[in-house]
Amino acid sequence: MNKIQIAPSILSANLLRLEEQIKIIASQGADFIHVDVMDGHFVPNLTFGPNMVAALKRITDLPLDVHLMIENPDHSLEQYAKAGASILTVHQEACTHLHRTIQVIHSLGIIAGVSLNPATSLSTVENVMEDIDLLLIMTVNPGFGAQKFIHQSLTKIAEAKEMIRETGRKIFLEVDGGVNPDTVEDIVKSGAGVLVAGNSIFGQQDIAKAFHQLKEKAENAAK
Ligand code: DX5
Ligand code: ZN
Repeated sequence: MNKIQIAPSILSANLLRLEEQIKIIASQGADFIHVDVMDGHFVPNLTFGPNMVAALKRITDLPLDVHLMIENPDHSLEQYAKAGASILTVHQEACTHLHRTIQVIHSLGIIAGVSLNPATSLSTVENVMEDIDLLLIMTVNPGFGAQKFIHQSLTKIAEAKEMIRETGRKIFLEVDGGVNPDTVEDIVKSGAGVLVAGNSIFGQQDIAKAFHQLKEKAENAAK
């Protein structure tokens, strides 16, 4: 059985009860905390910065999976590294010198991820597959939580899985956007290994139960 990892996204958490909510999902077995950094330019929304990453680092031992939906990420990689990020994922669309950006993330001692918007082809990362540690397939247009999963993405996930297999390297295949109990089975069967989930966990009344249900469905689909 493939191990499926879950990365709850705090974008949908109650920020006034963030510590309590993080402790709940940590106790249920969350694998990462997904932190959506948005700059109001690359995406039409503005969220967290390095101070949020640093605050999270103080209250949890879970690895912080920082998803940078920002222009010019090179300017702030060091800040996020110092704040305690375990994974730094940049968008292919935001990086003119993607290969260099990946090397910088590595030089900071951090797991390097690259993300693709739904309209961006996998061919744009073909030449960095030997360098990245994580490939993040966006299955909604980034910017907001609780959007509808784009079904055409399932083929892209399967193709990404094959590209990863061809490298012979261990590369996390992460999927972000619209992951919920109705979509999770197809997503896992297409080859996803790390599932980001915001609304389907933090948007629910009973966070622990929602986490557990999603994980169970994901694990069954991976059998
Ligand atoms: C969207 C973010 C996601 C978001 C997913 O731009 O990158 O991480 O939190 O939210 P859900 O799971 O609600 O689609
Ligand atoms: Zn995200």
